[in-house]
Amino acid sequence: MIKKGNLYYPTKEFKEKAWVKNKAVYKNAQRDPKRFWADLAEELVWFKKWKKIFEHKPPYFKWFLGGKINITYNIFERNLAERKNKIALIWEPEPLEERPRILSYYDLYREVNRFANGLKKLGVKKGDRVGIYLPMIPEVIISMLACARIGAVHSVVFSAFSPQALRIRLQDTEAKILITADGYWRRGKVIPLKQNADKGIENTKVKKVIVVQRMGNKIPFKKGRDIWWEDVVKEQPDYCKPAIMDSEDILFILYTSGSTGKPKGCVHVCGGYSVQALWTGKLIFDWKDNDIFWSTSDMGWITGHTYSCYSPLLNGVTFVIFEGAPDWPKPDRWAQIIDKYGVTVFYTAPTAIRMFAKYGKEVLKGHKFETLRLLGSVGEPIDESAWQWYFKEIGKSRCPVVDTWWQTETGGILITSLPGIGPFRPAYTGLPFPGTRFEILDDKGKPTKPGQEGALVLLPPFVPSLLRRIYKNPKKYLNTYWSEYGKKIYFTSDAALRDKNGLIRIVGRLDDVIKIAGHRITTGELEAAINLHPSIAECAVVGIPDKIKGQVPVVFVILKKKIKNLKEVVVGQVLKEIGPIALPKEVYEVESLPKTRSGKIMRRILRRLFTGEELGDLSTLANPESVREIKKIIKIQKK
Ligand code: WTA
Repeated sequence: MIKKGNLYYPTKEFKEKAWVKNKAVYKNAQRDPKRFWADLAEELVWFKKWKKIFEHKPPYFKWFLGGKINITYNIFERNLAERKNKIALIWEPEPLEERPRILSYYDLYREVNRFANGLKKLGVKKGDRVGIYLPMIPEVIISMLACARIGAVHSVVFSAFSPQALRIRLQDTEAKILITADGYWRRGKVIPLKQNADKGIENTKVKKVIVVQRMGNKIPFKKGRDIWWEDVVKEQPDYCKPAIMDSEDILFILYTSGSTGKPKGCVHVCGGYSVQALWTGKLIFDWKDNDIFWSTSDMGWITGHTYSCYSPLLNGVTFVIFEGAPDWPKPDRWAQIIDKYGVTVFYTAPTAIRMFAKYGKEVLKGHKFETLRLLGSVGEPIDESAWQWYFKEIGKSRCPVVDTWWQTETGGILITSLPGIGPFRPAYTGLPFPGTRFEILDDKGKPTKPGQEGALVLLPPFVPSLLRRIYKNPKKYLNTYWSEYGKKIYFTSDAALRDKNGLIRIVGRLDDVIKIAGHRITTGELEAAINLHPSIAECAVVGIPDKIKGQVPVVFVILKKKIKNLKEVVVGQVLKEIGPIALPKEVYEVESLPKTRSGKIMRRILRRLFTGEELGDLSTLANPESVREIKKIIKIQKK
């Protein structure tokens, strides 16, 4: 890249080959964003064209009204003529000695059709919800696409989530079918996924459990309820007619953490999501026919859904998915994978980058990364030093780094500089994607000046892939997104600022969401999990900065009854209720928690007590003695 002041630009060679190289795209899109998106939508095959591009009945909106579509038809039938035997998917298993699985577009097409027919035979109909609790194996993609083929709604639950976390989600979707596996590898250990699934479906409506044989290990198997994947697809024909879906029919529900303890089901729809998935991947990762793309996210998150499934497939791109941990069995496993498959575009999270940087020389030895031409980052703010390390050591100062901002709710990337245009500035995520209108507002709802921090909001007509609602919870939908600045402005819950070039920097969340290694969780969710312990009276969780993971949780508890090994017990409680992604770093026993007179815990004070920052305004605090006490306890324990 070329450096000018504190900005970077793509080289002439990169620019020449890029899909978009002319800044005029921004102006053109801005003039009429609805038209812009409608033009992009034309690229897809619609069984019936939409009658109206956009309709707004705040806080609800629709895109491509009256249009009929199927995303799998656009992935397969639309692509097959040119790419029948092109590799779609490369699956890298965790054990080094195991062979990868490689599926062409045509292979995947037949697998999806067979499984779709199998699901139909089990009675799954259009609109039915199907739970998917699978590790990163090809069947997770086949399952999602098979649901989409027949118009069933998939809801993927991250395979490392605990049985309890699975149950809450299954209860909310009322899924009657769950697809899982007999286990998977994680850091050389077999994870007993089926046993977890069995626990998770207790007290849900699940009647059938489809089990993929990944490990071949012994698992509990309940006759009449459990059925092997192989038996579902056996003798099923290679073709299943795609369901004719309305633009606004649900494609999937994905749960994410919001401001309160219970996760919310983000509803994404067939039409708008397809348009966004097709185009954001193409223009931001600048995919060409010979690219090998690797996004390291698990399918349990939105990044997995969009950029390890729908977006590369819609674009006919070859991509890699990986079962294991990036530093297993050696810290350079991820670099080996880049070498092995000649990955050209690599997309990962700042946490992973910081971890690679920590391993330093050990991971760089013997890897030249010559095949790479573009790098991406997602999930949390990337600090300048991580950005520089990524850019220099992995990208060899050659590859543009697209820092991409988006959310489970937005379905696709919305802020990033386009690789053929730039500019790129370390720690700044970039410019709004063409056709999106962002604003940064102060407390009074007025646009901020460059450099001034405010709330990041999205203005009408939003984007085609923005969530349509929270499943079965209209109140939460209204309160979370459409209340802060009124029903016509989408509130992202992020704080941000702009530099004088218009580049946006994401400062962090304004709500109680914390990002642990890029995983989204709320302090309320953790508190609810910990409070379930019979000896705990009350607790407060705050996220504090961490050098590798970005943020980690710290817990303050008030006990009813003495607990031996308090930290172990609290960590165990989180493990049981949520899973291993959000384990507390420290646990403090306290007599009381700092509260406002109306009884709200002042988490800001707890966080600052921990980090040693100025405490700020304490005038609303009802019990100053608690602050003194906690200060002492932290001091003692930190020693
Ligand atoms: C944060 C992940 C800074 C942000 C795709 C957002 C980021 C939340 C970035 C959504 C980025 C995501 N820079 N912060 N490039 N990308 N975030 O739903 O706070 O897991 O609101 O979606 O992650 O997290 P989610």
